[in-house]
Amino acid sequence: SRTVKLAVIPGDGIGPEVVGEALKVLDAAVQGGDVRFEQTPFSLGAARFLETGDVLTDADLAAIASHDAILLGAVGGVPGDPRLANANIERGLLLKLRFSLDHYVNLRPTVVYPGVPSPLSEPGDVNFVVVREGTEGPYVGNGGAIRQGTPHEIANEVSVNTAYGVERVVRYAFAAAAARQGKLTLVHKTNVLVFAGSLWKRVVDAVSAEFPDVAVDYLHVDAATIFLVTDPARFDVIVTDNLFGDILTDLAGAISGGIGLAASGNINPDGTYPSMFEPVHGSAPDIAGKQLADPTAAILSVSLMLSHLGLETEAARVATAVTADIAARTGAARTTTEVGDAIAALAANR
Ligand code: NAD
Ligand code: IPM
Ligand code: MN
Repeated sequence: SRTVKLAVIPGDGIGPEVVGEALKVLDAAVQGGDVRFEQTPFSLGAARFLETGDVLTDADLAAIASHDAILLGAVGGVPGDPRLANANIERGLLLKLRFSLDHYVNLRPTVVYPGVPSPLSEPGDVNFVVVREGTEGPYVGNGGAIRQGTPHEIANEVSVNTAYGVERVVRYAFAAAAARQGKLTLVHKTNVLVFAGSLWKRVVDAVSAEFPDVAVDYLHVDAATIFLVTDPARFDVIVTDNLFGDILTDLAGAISGGIGLAASGNINPDGTYPSMFEPVHGSAPDIAGKQLADPTAAILSVSLMLSHLGLETEAARVATAVTADIAARTGAARTTTEVGDAIAALAANR
């Protein structure tokens, strides 16, 4: 029998609500099998900061890193809360985890499930994955301000793109495309961001020689937002930088029927560090504590996690349960717990 050490970071707002349902479904999917998930909860996020002043201690980071995988709900307080002004939870906790654990692939799939009410009247057969670079770009924190607070302030945010970093994520994206429909779209802004754009373009061209069966396409990010709305079925694998990937995947979540359906994995493909699975959405302070959050994104993130751990049968069980639940949705409002219970029952009933 196998034991998987799982670090659980429920986080803030709706994070604990959706993680509770995701763990319920995980239990249902693995019950009766010979794999056991040994869970360690970590109290991290805005609530922890307000209590102790800690964002992410070295001891917490080391403890998390000693696990096989991480499940995270969402972190971050109410935007504008003055008590959190200097906390920088997003950068000091979430991004610190992604950077320290070398999560260079941020995998964000989008599927328009049969029966789901997409805001697009005829979305078509939508099934694509965004491979978002996870450890570089404008997220590195290589910025600074000069003369802050004066009329002559200069605020710089520098996007860092390395040949090494771009190549490894592009190679991952090609391999993903080769295993799917064989279509790769590079999304960037090469007409304006000429240095980073040129690097991304040259790397894609070079790696493309190793994948003759993958058709390569390029879109500027602004045009990509048009096609994500007018013809999302055209996409198979999109590879893009950290910031563009962030923006495109909230849009992708919206077209797929809601951000509450969008799952993600922060992957360290080399297996040096544990990968981290989390819904694309945030802590949603506007609906927290009201049983209004859709836990499906967190549940689908568990499916991504199971697949990453090589537990394909269990991963498929969760995905199939979600598909069945979505197909049966009538439009009547259900609580967070009711959705989790329904999907867990489907995952257990096999
Ligand atoms: P958000 O994703 O939390 O919310 C955006 C909108 O989507 C809100 O109206 C919210 O109610 C809705 N929504 C989100 N998840 C939902 C769900 N599961 N079901 C139904 N509706 C849902 O984004 P935001 O408001 O920009 O950010 C709130 C906080 O979360 C901020 O502190 C932000 O930094 C943080 N954040 C954290 C993560 C993360 O931990 N991975 C991701 C994004 C934002
Ligand atoms: C996401 C979030 C994060 C990001 C924030 C909270 C740092 O928006 O996971 O999409 O920008 O990556
Ligand atoms: Mn985001």
